[in-house]
Amino acid sequence: MKEYKLALVGATGLVGRTALQVLKEKNLPISEYVFFASSRSAGSKIKFLNKEYIVRELNEHSFDEGFDFAIFSAGGDTSKKYSPIAASKGCIVVDNSSAFRMDDNVPLVVPEVNSDALKKHNGIIANPNCSTIQAVVPLKPLDTKYTIKRIVYSTYQAVSGAGKKGVDDLKNGIKGLPPKKFPYSIFNNCLPHIDDFTENGYTKEELKMINETRKILEKPNLRVTATTVRVPVINCHSESINIEFEKDFDINELRNLLKNSPGIILEDDINNNIYPLATNATGHDEVFVGRIRRDESVPFGINIWVVGDNIRKGAATNAIQIVEKLIEFDKNK
Ligand code: A2P
Repeated sequence: MKEYKLALVGATGLVGRTALQVLKEKNLPISEYVFFASSRSAGSKIKFLNKEYIVRELNEHSFDEGFDFAIFSAGGDTSKKYSPIAASKGCIVVDNSSAFRMDDNVPLVVPEVNSDALKKHNGIIANPNCSTIQAVVPLKPLDTKYTIKRIVYSTYQAVSGAGKKGVDDLKNGIKGLPPKKFPYSIFNNCLPHIDDFTENGYTKEELKMINETRKILEKPNLRVTATTVRVPVINCHSESINIEFEKDFDINELRNLLKNSPGIILEDDINNNIYPLATNATGHDEVFVGRIRRDESVPFGINIWVVGDNIRKGAATNAIQIVEKLIEFDKNK
């Protein structure tokens, strides 16, 4: 059986560490791993699958030795500089940053939704934004059956989405210390401000959700709006999604459709106070969906509550599932 060689760039970060955990669990046919980070942690040790690895500093020659795959989780600037170098050496890059997501030559992939897009790439594949990934998993089957007309996103996003510094801000804020990562204390606050503001008043995070949803669902003119909010939760993003359809639906049928769609766990039993919670979703790869109900203010609409582990499915797991799919396609070639 063919074995592959994989590079993990940003192996020491929050997403990188989780990627190591997911790689351990998945047991893919990968026989060689190399872990990269910046000069700050080059030389440090990572214990992985009963072996000790020395973290290497990423540089222009890192990919000369030849890799099948590289997962990049080291920020947009690192991706912009080094992903094209890796791709030019024949390595397929799965990039977690926003650097290439809207590039027409780069597939933007959530395997449960559009894995066929992986069949055509130029060496770089983009992993979508964490809040978009967990949203499109339930949106895709709904769109296929009922045709989505409009989406209103309101998010409640965990501090882990801002990396280790985001988590530190919440933990320090509880002790009364001032914030370093966020503009205000995230403790006892909800900050309607994720990533930079843009000219039209939206944040970049909101624009990512709008544009990436259109690209993944292949509906470039879909009406979508978003308000993204950072909340004092360590891990797992929660989202209220209001969806308007072209066609009518039976609410029980719709609930069953979501229950039987890939990557979803339905938690929707209000009589027993069952609905998705960040504390329950953390550590899982599935997206949790509940509070499914008709939006009675429009002819064919619903509201749903969607919770996902933003570091696993929203980043590390999705990237590794992409590698898994690429290996599957390679085997069936
Ligand atoms: P390092 O540990 O050397 O700083 P997080 O999002 O949790 O802050 O993690 C960011 C990850 O990206 C870390 O592994 C970090 O490595 C890595 N990183 C940051 N800048 C670079 C760079 N210029 N080259 C390679 N890796 C980088």
